[in-house]
Amino acid sequence: MSLLLCIETSCDDTSAAVVDTGGAGGLDGAGGLDGAGGPESAGGPHGAGAALIRSSIVSSQHESHAAFGGVVPEVASRRHTELLVGTVAAALADAGVAWDDLEGVAVTTGPGLIGALLVGLAAAKAIAYARRLPLTAVDHLQAHLAASYALGVTAPFVCLTASGGHTLLAVVERGVEFRVAGRTLDDAAGEAFDKGARLLGLPYPGGRELDLLAARGEPSFVAFPRSLPQGLDFSFSGLKTALLYYLREHQTEAATEALRASVAASYQEAIVDQLVGKTVRCAEQEGLRRVAVGGGVAANSRLRRRLTAACRERGLEVFIPPVALCTDNAAMVGLAARHLEPIAWPQYLGLDAYAAEPALRALRVRR
Ligand code: KG4
Ligand code: ZN
Repeated sequence: MSLLLCIETSCDDTSAAVVDTGGAGGLDGAGGLDGAGGPESAGGPHGAGAALIRSSIVSSQHESHAAFGGVVPEVASRRHTELLVGTVAAALADAGVAWDDLEGVAVTTGPGLIGALLVGLAAAKAIAYARRLPLTAVDHLQAHLAASYALGVTAPFVCLTASGGHTLLAVVERGVEFRVAGRTLDDAAGEAFDKGARLLGLPYPGGRELDLLAARGEPSFVAFPRSLPQGLDFSFSGLKTALLYYLREHQTEAATEALRASVAASYQEAIVDQLVGKTVRCAEQEGLRRVAVGGGVAANSRLRRRLTAACRERGLEVFIPPVALCTDNAAMVGLAARHLEPIAWPQYLGLDAYAAEPALRALRVRR
């Protein structure tokens, strides 16, 4: 048994978790993670090598940002400072773990909102330093793709990682080491959901609201454009513009609730078509039989259903983590930390956070 205290503050969720990185186990140990099991989240064999999630607490800041219609970075940083101490205490209490039981601390160091990241990093350093513990620095994208390790996936596998800030096809080669096979050329998929939701007059945070509205609509109601970039890259900005024009031209029609639901369902379908199509193609091109998803967009009910069906049709094994492990959470930070080298006490004191993904930055420069 090796208990890690994990902290995640990259955006607008203040989260802490206790993860056992030494034991074997699976979803049985995923305390408090709603949505585990069921046909859509049932991926493959549970347990094999998956870390034990002893607790996972997410203190959402949605109420603080709702009035602004989106995340305000400065507000996020301030709320993290207010919520973090209580969130960490709750994670320890929920796990039934004392400070003395901890053998390390893990924290997200980027990419994300720099002020928000620094709050989590400062807290993690302070705790680790005071208790003479090692610290593991975790990349947010690596954390999202590590979520599927709770379901027992084994590398190599393809992981569609889609959140508010990123959309990419990661070929996970070993642990949390990955290669980018495709990425968005403009907006992230989560951004497409959020901007679409805003155009449809839905409250923030929009992705989940659009998912709920779309569930009552007809996905083939509007034929939104399907013209896509070549290869495995994604593009969502044209789709958002198409929705804007559609709503302008059909103002009265879109105003009725049933039709709005069908417009939402059609828009969602265009996003999901792209995500599912390219993910499956990536697995086929790479000759990989295992497919996983991670990131907030992986909470989308239509994506979960369609990806499950598409993978099953082709005999691919699919690993879709419970919703609570897809949206930002600290448990996935612990799942990633299992595959990373901890930094010994007290060498991490100079460690910094980063706002942009270094690997993606390099990729952009090369093109
Ligand atoms: O991973 P995440 O929690 O934070 C980031 O790293 O960005 O992802 C947040 C994104 C937001 O854009 C949110 O609207 C989207 O995930 N999202 C959803 C759903 N739940 C969250 N998008 C579509 N359907 C959902 N059910
Ligand atoms: Zn995220």
